[in-house]
Amino acid sequence: MALLEIVKYPAPSLSQPSVPVEEIDDEIKTLIENMGETMFDAPGVGLAAPQVGVNKRLIVYNPNAGDDEPKENEKEKEFRPLINPEIISASGSVVSEKEACLSVPDYSANVKRYKQITVKALNIDGKKLEFDAEGIQAVILQHEIDHLDGILFIDRISSLKKALYKKKIKKRLRNN
Ligand code: NI
Repeated sequence: MALLEIVKYPAPSLSQPSVPVEEIDDEIKTLIENMGETMFDAPGVGLAAPQVGVNKRLIVYNPNAGDDEPKENEKEKEFRPLINPEIISASGSVVSEKEACLSVPDYSANVKRYKQITVKALNIDGKKLEFDAEGIQAVILQHEIDHLDGILFIDRISSLKKALYKKKIKKRLRNN
């Protein structure tokens, strides 16, 4: 197991659409393990492969994030991989407050998201999954699946806010 480097905006892999995973081989399984470890280390509640520079349709997330029930340490570190995830239906609307991303440092914004979604994906054994998610879990999944289409949360805010963020990053890159 190893920690991976999380790439930051404007890294090219973040704006490229990712390709489906064709075969869940050892390379993919190792990537999943490393992404899970990297996500908890960051710490974050979700991580998509393009964020570690791999443009494949693969995400990991914390299925207990947003859970009110206090969990034992062991349980908190549980992560779930989703391979080739797709949102097959969505309804309702919610404002995800101060949404943030490990690839978009020092920034957060309110983002409009669906309230409930149904997701279809493969698990690590290649088994088909289909499940509903709502609330924080639905927001996390929409955010991570967006990454697979090269979409960041800053693409879903007003163009003025996005322009201001871009300006800030350009300034920072110049000063480094
Ligand atoms: Ni993100």
